[in-house]
Amino acid sequence: MWNHSDLLLLNSSPAASASVAVVDTNEQTPLHRVHCGGSVLAIAVSSDHIYAGTQGGDIMVFSLDTYDHVRDLKGHSGCILALNLSQDESLLVSSAGDAIINIWRTKTFENVHRIYSTFDIGDIFCVAYSSKLSSLYLGAQNTSIQWYDFRSTDKRPRASLKSHPSRRSHRFFDSLGPGGSATPQPPVDSSDVLESCHESQLVEIDPLNIVQYAHFGYVYCMLLLQSFTKEGEEILVSGGGDGSIKIWEIDSETSAIKPEKSKTLSSGDSGVLCMATRDQFLYCGLTDGEISIWDLDGQALIRSIKGHQDDVLTMTVRDNCIWSGSASGYVRKWSQRFELLGRWKAHDGLILASDLKSVKGRDLYFSGGNDDCISVWDVSCQEDDFPAAYRTTEDELLSTLRKLVSYRTVANDPKFSEDCRQGASLLKSIFRQFGAQSFLIPTDNRNPIVFGRFTPPETPGVESKRQTILFYGHYDVISAGEDTPNNQWITEPFEMTGMNSYLYGRGVSDNKGPVLAAIFAAGELAQNNQLTCNIVFLIEGEEESGSRGFKEAVQKYHDFIGPIDWILLANSYWLDDEAPCVTYGLRGVVHASVEIQSDRPDLHSGVDGSRESREPVIDMVNLLAKLTSDGGKIMIPGFHEMVRAITPAEEAMYTEIENEFSSRLFRGSITSGRLKEHLMSRWRYPSLTIHRVNVSGPTNATIIPRSASAAISLRIVPDQKLSTVTENLTSFLYNQFATFSSPNQLKISIDHVSEWWLGDPLNKAFKTLARVVEEVWEKKPLFIREGGSIPAVRFLEMEFGASAAHLPCGQASDAAHLDNERMRVANLYKSKTIMKKVFRELPLEGVDV
Ligand code: BES
Ligand code: MN
Repeated sequence: MWNHSDLLLLNSSPAASASVAVVDTNEQTPLHRVHCGGSVLAIAVSSDHIYAGTQGGDIMVFSLDTYDHVRDLKGHSGCILALNLSQDESLLVSSAGDAIINIWRTKTFENVHRIYSTFDIGDIFCVAYSSKLSSLYLGAQNTSIQWYDFRSTDKRPRASLKSHPSRRSHRFFDSLGPGGSATPQPPVDSSDVLESCHESQLVEIDPLNIVQYAHFGYVYCMLLLQSFTKEGEEILVSGGGDGSIKIWEIDSETSAIKPEKSKTLSSGDSGVLCMATRDQFLYCGLTDGEISIWDLDGQALIRSIKGHQDDVLTMTVRDNCIWSGSASGYVRKWSQRFELLGRWKAHDGLILASDLKSVKGRDLYFSGGNDDCISVWDVSCQEDDFPAAYRTTEDELLSTLRKLVSYRTVANDPKFSEDCRQGASLLKSIFRQFGAQSFLIPTDNRNPIVFGRFTPPETPGVESKRQTILFYGHYDVISAGEDTPNNQWITEPFEMTGMNSYLYGRGVSDNKGPVLAAIFAAGELAQNNQLTCNIVFLIEGEEESGSRGFKEAVQKYHDFIGPIDWILLANSYWLDDEAPCVTYGLRGVVHASVEIQSDRPDLHSGVDGSRESREPVIDMVNLLAKLTSDGGKIMIPGFHEMVRAITPAEEAMYTEIENEFSSRLFRGSITSGRLKEHLMSRWRYPSLTIHRVNVSGPTNATIIPRSASAAISLRIVPDQKLSTVTENLTSFLYNQFATFSSPNQLKISIDHVSEWWLGDPLNKAFKTLARVVEEVWEKKPLFIREGGSIPAVRFLEMEFGASAAHLPCGQASDAAHLDNERMRVANLYKSKTIMKKVFRELPLEGVDV
């Protein structure tokens, strides 16, 4: 038997899982999981918010859309035991272990009433609020049911605040111990809400409005229902630890319930822990896994089944399905006739709370447990993976992203070329679902490019003026390194996981999430007949390996793709996690491999090491050392001379960013005074990185490797010319090596390169982008550049004679290319909204459509 005192110990003790043999054990992955920092004992879900009652006494409020933590409602000093929304969702009622009931206005989150009983009632396990009677009912540990009718003008003088639970002597702490001395009092909670609350908020229950011994046990649960006999009237049903269910008639004048006007239904000794109802049926979850089903109209027990191995702690009903949640962490789904439809492990520990809500056509089941989490489950009848008519809701975007992330579209590894093909063809089918033209453009032995084109319906006379926006993105990803020891992934990288308002998985941010947001944006415009221009998509599969084959393939299909007026992309990040940005510059990159080989095999350093031998690794270290000065300056001749000088106008853009960070530290460490210099070094000055040095042979410390290789890269900036930089780099290394007079062989190869890109932050595309970002995020975006590189951007600009604008969708903490890559749900949704507006509004400016 589970009781309240256990709850406090539950936090770290997951209950042993029940092993019940059932036929149907369908695996379920939660849509999202939210950590609440303590056991979740009550859940209520409104049309906008998820309310979670926690062990600590706070009610945490989350956005139902994005799972963002909106705020905490603070008004209890004991763990929350029940949450109830009024039918019209305008009020939230909370009860707790502190013997207080709070009523909150959901619109303002204001605590409108604090209700208490003059008696010592212990924990309040359940509450029910009748909008019709403006009355509140509570069921408590002291076996009483009490009520308060807000319609009554009960102006009895309050017994004085002394009767308030927080001012009363405590049953345990204030009793005199054996020696006659009181147990030391726990420190008074500094958030003593009584101090701060307004007199008018406090509501004391009239001692007459109490039914003592409503049950011969704790009153665990209650429900308000429509009466079956008296039309328009309500009845109260309560369940107790004594195993009985009571049906109480309510006097609609006074809201009173009377023992003599109650009926008792009893199914045995098992305590009634939870209840749910639909039509005249009452579904009760009992101790020891029992579930009993009553016909309330006929007041007869219809069935009693062993539903779980452990206590049934939650019961939820909708249409023809019933969900029960147990102390073993399992949820079971039942048909109306109580056939088991499925079961899944929802929590590591007890399931303490649940609720169900229909959200945009989906049935969502919310469960809370003592693993400190709320989990959100899609329990609607599962459709095929691809519903015929593609719905364009945010949920659809999420499930498509989950599917796209599941393909290991790692570029540059033949092992994954089939995944890449499937990823590409998934994108193609999404375009086609939206009615866009789509096919795969082959590349020379590389992953295909997905082409998509949305075309507005023909309007006579307009066709020739129609503009075309090209959206560029990539579906390939960096390897997740999930097989390497010590990887830090907290989720499976190719199973997208929703957690604490973020989506985790390889590629969610770079670049699958933003790509899908853009496709869905265009798709929704097409579906609503709101396209104002042609939107062409080029989604490639080789970006992470330097966009190999992209140029040639695009050139080959140039006439088919073009003409293009604007290029848009969405493949970078905000400067931090707060301020929305638009990006007007990227650095270029030169990736090179340096190899030094001797003509001898790997040798033993003791046997063969000698002052005569010229070791490749020593040559390598000496050669790489020539690339920079001791102070880290890049020493390639002519390298810095090509860097464009800064103008006052450019400097002003950095000053704006400094202003944004005048009141907070950038990345927690860089002060505003140093920020300009810091950002310029990352964005407008070049850099050099030595990624790794590898050696041949076994790597134990007695080997002279016969060869060494190094991977280096240079980030380049305006106006460094790619060809000049590569030539200067190679000739510099060869020349330096020549001065070593080493018998070893040096080989330098350029693996891939990317041009830098500098957009025009004053052009129409950036103006539209910035305006729309401000509309959607309600904050002016910062104009930023980036240190990273995207090879296709400058090429596309040149190839189509069009300018590019770049919308960074992710936050700085997205961890692209790293373990635990993620993207915030809100960023994904808002990016879609932004792109929808930009696709629609950019062509409208100055064009008569
Ligand atoms: N989205 C990134 C580029 C990026 C990174 C932009 C960081 C802004 C900030 C892109 O997918 C990428 O990883 N690019 C590579 C270049 C490529 C040639 C391998 C890069 O920057 O290293
Ligand atoms: Mn990348």
